[in-house]
Amino acid sequence: MLSVRDIDVFYGDFHVLHGVSLEVEKGELVAVIGANGHGKSTLLKAMCGLEPIASGDIVYQGESIRDLDAPQLVARGLVYVAEDRRLFPDMTVRENLLLGAYLDRGRKRRDQTLAHVFELYPRLAERQRQLARTLSGGEAQMLALGRGLMSAPDLIAIDEPSLGLAPNLVDSMLQTVHRLKEDGMTVLLVEQSLALIEDVVDRIYTLEEGVLSESRKTATERS
Ligand SMILES: Nc1ncnc2c1ncn2[C@@H]1O[C@H](COP(=O)(O)OP(=O)(O)O)[C@@H](O)[C@H]1O
Ligand SMILES: [Mg+2]
Repeated sequence: MLSVRDIDVFYGDFHVLHGVSLEVEKGELVAVIGANGHGKSTLLKAMCGLEPIASGDIVYQGESIRDLDAPQLVARGLVYVAEDRRLFPDMTVRENLLLGAYLDRGRKRRDQTLAHVFELYPRLAERQRQLARTLSGGEAQMLALGRGLMSAPDLIAIDEPSLGLAPNLVDSMLQTVHRLKEDGMTVLLVEQSLALIEDVVDRIYTLEEGVLSESRKTATERS
């Protein structure tokens, strides 16, 4: 479904990603693990049209997307959920969610997807009239994910959803990510810690100083 082929990405002279190749099949939940600063966010952003690639190619649903920008990719069902969440603090939870559906693709299925998001995250339903700034860290993460879902993606790339969450919330958040896969979505997840995600993902790549390993299957996938 998504094929990253030998890409290089630079910030000015700084060479961040070195010949990175990655495959995600339809319906998989794949993770990229790596320590802080090793290029995980850069990889997701490059895939989602938010950073230009210097060489290599990215093929999504059979088509090269290396020259498309983020809105064009959202329109094709490829969506990035940023690690810093990028919520609108002075808008309500519901308004933040509806903003995720501003393109045609999401708008057509808006009410249906909103009901699905509220089912996935009942806290968001309870708090839909509250301002986003009043949410706890865990709820803000749910909202960021929910807003991503509102664009009706086929593939959702989620950048460190556990960041800043209390340990007891990380697990339930990862369960909802797994639930997305069960509902038929394709998920690419980025995290720092292998221990957190080993039980919920199918396949794992490791990114070290901008170099991506071969992937390995987890016990979840083998069983
Ligand atoms: N916009 C930017 N301009 C310059 N350097 C950047 C930029 N974004 C990230 N970097 C640098 O690129 C490297 C990889 O960053 P990033 O992809 O954010 O890593 P990770 O998500 O794994 O923490 C880091 O050294 C970071 O400081
Ligand atoms: Mg990052």
